Amino acid sequence: MNKEITIAVSKGRILEQSLPLLEKLNIRPLEDPHSSRKLVFATNEPNIKLIIIRASDVPTYVEYGAADVGIAGKDVLMEYGGDGLYEPLDLGICRCRLSLAGAEKRHSGGSGRLRIATKYVLTTRDYFANQGKQVEIIKLYGSMELAPVLGLADLIVDLVESGNTLKANGLVEIEKITDISSRLVVNKASMKMKQEVIRPFIERLRDVVR
Ligand code: PRP
Repeated sequence: MNKEITIAVSKGRILEQSLPLLEKLNIRPLEDPHSSRKLVFATNEPNIKLIIIRASDVPTYVEYGAADVGIAGKDVLMEYGGDGLYEPLDLGICRCRLSLAGAEKRHSGGSGRLRIATKYVLTTRDYFANQGKQVEIIKLYGSMELAPVLGLADLIVDLVESGNTLKANGLVEIEKITDISSRLVVNKASMKMKQEVIRPFIERLRDVVR
């Protein structure tokens, strides 16, 4: 049996908070991912390697089996959708919320459709559809907070942690859509074919998270 496992980790905050979790499992990359341009990192455990990629690519790598397990935000997993992955564990890191936000002094709309800027197009569409509202969604890739300021959109759907970014741009949180944290995801075939290594890995991680 192939006992190697590849762990895909979202770069940025999730990587920063995942490394200490892996460290508690005695899994350490041999080089510091923060100071290297490498994308694949060997670890002190010869059968485990890390790949460090964009958050939105983690579910893709794991669903197709290029990585056996992954660490990604619930925001990214909701937007990715489908049931191609197991999600056995809430890692409790990178906690924040996905919220609807807008300008402090917002003109309470004309008769036209609300325009919402977000990188979470499908999640936002579902959220408004559940309320029976049709909205126009504008896809952005970052800095959503700018959109209401410059009149590109009426509202945004984005992650809020401290609320400082909203505040600094004169925006207020209107409604929390859902709580977010990072999750462990597992490739379905790997769960079966490599269960002797994957299951203990999940259980060790579960103990550490507890
Ligand atoms: C996230 C998010 C908000 C900000 C919220 O952006 O998109 O802009 O953090 O955090 P706060 O409530 O504590 O201010 P991030 O810095 O991760 O960059 P990104 O927009 O490029 O993803």
